[in-house]
Amino acid sequence: MCTSRAASLLVSLLVSSAISALVSAQGSTSSPWQTLSGNPPLVIARGGFSGIFPDSSYAAYSLALMTSVPNVVSWCDVQLTKDGVGICAPSVKLDNSTDISSVFKDKDKTYPVNGMATQGWFSVDFTLNDLNNVILIQGVYSRSNKFDGNLFPILTVQDMVSQVKPPALWLNIQLDIFFTQHNLSMRNFVITTSKSVIIDYISSPEVGFLRSIAGRVSPTKTKLIFRFMGKDVIEPSTNQTYGSLLKNLTFIKTFASGILVPKVYIWPIDASNYLQAYTSLVSDAHKAGLTVFAADFVNDVPLSYNYSFDPVAETLSYIDNGAFSVDGVLTDFPITPSAAIDCFAHVSKKSSGQATPLVISFNGASGDYPGCTDLAYSNAIQDGTDIIDCPVQMSKDGIPFCMSSINLIDNSNVATTPFRNLMATAPEIQSGTGIFSFSLIWSDIQNLTAAIASPYSSSFKIFRNPANRNVGRFLSLSEFLALAKNSSVSGVLISIEHAAYLANKSLGVTDAVLGALSKAGFSNQKEKKVMIKSTNSSVLMKIKENANYELVYEVDEGIRDATNATVLDIKRFADSVVVMKKSVFPTNLAFLTGVTDVVTKLHAFQLSVYVQTFSNEFISQAWDFFSDPTVEVNSFVMGGEIDGVITDFPKTSGSYKRNKCLGLGSKTPVYMSPVQPGSLMQVIPPPALPPAQAPYPVLTVADVVEPPLPVVQEATAPPPTGGSTATVPSQQKSGQPKLPAGIFLSSLALLLPTLFLL
Ligand SMILES: *[C@@H]1O[C@H](CO)[C@@H](O)[C@H](O)[C@H]1NC(C)=O
Ligand SMILES: *[C@@H]1O[C@H](CO)[C@@H](O)[C@H](O)[C@H]1NC(C)=O
Ligand SMILES: *[C@@H]1O[C@H](CO)[C@@H](O)[C@H](O)[C@H]1NC(C)=O
Ligand SMILES: *[C@@H]1O[C@H](CO)[C@@H](O)[C@H](O)[C@H]1NC(C)=O
Ligand SMILES: *[C@@H]1O[C@H](CO)[C@@H](O)[C@H](O)[C@H]1NC(C)=O
Ligand SMILES: *[C@@H]1O[C@H](CO)[C@@H](O)[C@H](O)[C@H]1NC(C)=O
Ligand SMILES: *[C@@H]1O[C@H](CO)[C@@H](O)[C@H](O)[C@H]1NC(C)=O
Ligand SMILES: *[C@@H]1O[C@H](CO)[C@@H](O)[C@H](O)[C@H]1NC(C)=O
Ligand SMILES: *[C@@H]1O[C@H](CO)[C@@H](O)[C@H](O)[C@H]1NC(C)=O
Ligand SMILES: *[C@@H]1O[C@H](CO)[C@@H](O)[C@H](O)[C@H]1NC(C)=O
Repeated sequence: MCTSRAASLLVSLLVSSAISALVSAQGSTSSPWQTLSGNPPLVIARGGFSGIFPDSSYAAYSLALMTSVPNVVSWCDVQLTKDGVGICAPSVKLDNSTDISSVFKDKDKTYPVNGMATQGWFSVDFTLNDLNNVILIQGVYSRSNKFDGNLFPILTVQDMVSQVKPPALWLNIQLDIFFTQHNLSMRNFVITTSKSVIIDYISSPEVGFLRSIAGRVSPTKTKLIFRFMGKDVIEPSTNQTYGSLLKNLTFIKTFASGILVPKVYIWPIDASNYLQAYTSLVSDAHKAGLTVFAADFVNDVPLSYNYSFDPVAETLSYIDNGAFSVDGVLTDFPITPSAAIDCFAHVSKKSSGQATPLVISFNGASGDYPGCTDLAYSNAIQDGTDIIDCPVQMSKDGIPFCMSSINLIDNSNVATTPFRNLMATAPEIQSGTGIFSFSLIWSDIQNLTAAIASPYSSSFKIFRNPANRNVGRFLSLSEFLALAKNSSVSGVLISIEHAAYLANKSLGVTDAVLGALSKAGFSNQKEKKVMIKSTNSSVLMKIKENANYELVYEVDEGIRDATNATVLDIKRFADSVVVMKKSVFPTNLAFLTGVTDVVTKLHAFQLSVYVQTFSNEFISQAWDFFSDPTVEVNSFVMGGEIDGVITDFPKTSGSYKRNKCLGLGSKTPVYMSPVQPGSLMQVIPPPALPPAQAPYPVLTVADVVEPPLPVVQEATAPPPTGGSTATVPSQQKSGQPKLPAGIFLSSLALLLPTLFLL
């Protein structure tokens, strides 16, 4: 059922895009595209959707077709076997992308390749028949190898074309001289193949090869593209470096109609991974009549810091920058440029976009700036966030201010200042020691140097914007409110934690918040919406007694459902609920396992649901989202039906809301349709499946009910800096396993029946 709905969605997509392609071809004089032809740039899927499935496998090619623009180009790296058959494999050394080293132990050889002695299992030493028992596997260690057990066979070029039926075919001939040395003719292969198969593009980094076929393939049917390698690499047939060949585009034009270049040829990056000014390459090549294709688009490596880890932003810088557009991008993740080209390019800066999701910042734009600083907030506002957030902490002298953690060490340089003497323990707050906000007076805190958070630095060595590591200054709650009031945001969210603990230290945080809001003129909420968030119901109860703000209850543990009685109880003190991502789509080994009842249940009782935390680092996302934060947000919004996102990269969510492919109903293109939670996991062969995990608990009334806030203690003596030794009781719960529910239109589901046809 799901599959046929998805199939009809795909068909309607193909039809509507075919029509719009016609329309845009006719109106190409007024095209917004700065490509050579005026047509939208091409999406070229390198080895298929090789970011997920083994490079050059049937599954990779199929997934590319299912998730991309209808005219997606299928790229095959052609290698020749001992008996002269052309196969698709990313390298002539088959050991990288197949299991050949275990099938033919000791059959590795050492040959010169472009003058370099190279050891491995070469395609030229095996007949097609030999390769029958060899399967394609994931060659990139950082990607999941869970799909290898599907026993994807090596495909000949003919097999690939007949099975995948690619809308357009690109053959890359990386090595011709090498095959010639092994008495195999790539030229014969290409010329013969072009008689039975439409080859739309042939690329090669060897000048000699392209010149040898230039007169033998039809230039209208088959475009020849010269591929540039690194600038210092020597092109083997001319003995010039690619860098020097780049200086004579007129020469290139004598045998090729276009060029394929590493993306850094166009937007160079410096040694610290920052983007430099773009080069004139695309304009120069266009002037010379050459199309330009850019290579190396990969979502699952840290991108240049300038893109804030957002691969859509990266693609846009190549296709929609006001100065030029490349004519195509070569990618391992074709869904990303598909969405960038069709949905995100040429969006008016003034477009207000759709209302959902409500974009709430997480410590301001803390993905790019130290959290809760003036810069984090002003950039969050510029980035199009709807709500800026202030996690309120209290200084020793009772000033409420914004900081991500009550422990100043997490967000500042306090540990390197003389205040490190104030190191203390507070078991009610955290284990271990910390330097707590209530131990310093505000003027000292103001003077601390802010530090950018890098949640994925210790395990994955992914650091956030080092240029901004220590910029910005912290704001008092009053300053934060003044900033919000004088800005375009629609409101503020103020988080209050540890209220009972602070009350015992003579610090009344709820009163301080209410006072600051009232003083800043936020009492009537006419201009700006005020949201107060807490994980503790007693805080929200207390606020409710005193003011009429939106009260937001945060459930900071994974849950799979909540009993009706619990939700009714939440209704007594909250208007909306914040849950974790895994409480909507639980995961196992970073694969989505399904969808919980949490959003449906909370919605049934008219509670809005906001989800945290959406980050751009690919490592923070499940495999199902293709290392693309936009796919993740879209799947939560369209598939998970959530009302808001809490994100440290509000620019990505703000830009998502303005994309042109929202609100299209059944005409929604596949690349802007939600993924089906659990469907990718179904492609894992059973022996490789991770063991099922214990399901998350159901939220009960006992989890929610809290004793009322204690009265704030009179300050009789200077507030103590130490804490008590009481421990927080841990809650153990159990529950029934939840089956994956397939409620969403999805392109992924299509893969299953096709795979079984093999
Ligand atoms: C295979 O090749 C890819 C791309 O060149 C590389 O990232 C990966 O590390 C290689 N894997 C092995 C096992 O050599
Ligand atoms: C290629 O053919 C030549 C001439 O027939 C022969 O001498 C040479 O050994 C062959 N090379 C290989 C790698 O088979
Ligand atoms: C390129 O250099 C190699 C080694 O220096 C030489 O053998 C070859 O003849 C040269 N080829 C051309 C086209 O100059
Ligand atoms: C560039 O290439 C063209 C065509 O091969 C040739 O006529 C011209 O002399 C070359 N220019 C330079 C500066 O090498
Ligand atoms: C990239 O970011 C760095 C650091 O913020 C900045 O200096 C540089 O100008 C940016 N590059 C571009 C092309 O905007
Ligand atoms: C803040 O630091 C500066 C120099 O680092 C110092 O001159 C100033 O007195 C400090 N302010 C406070 C309130 O401590
Ligand atoms: C209010 O915002 C404007 C423009 O963003 C700025 O010029 C002005 O200084 C701000 N005023 C205050 C009081 O912050
Ligand atoms: C309040 O603080 C006192 C001493 O600092 C401690 O004995 C007591 O347990 C605290 N009460 C609460 C509710 O934390
Ligand atoms: C809980 O509430 C939902 C939504 O109102 C309702 O459909 C369901 O029957 C209720 N379940 C129980 C056990 O009362
Ligand atoms: C919530 O606040 C109450 C005081 O109102 C306190 O007793 C309780 O420990 C807090 N709960 C948690 C989980 O911190």
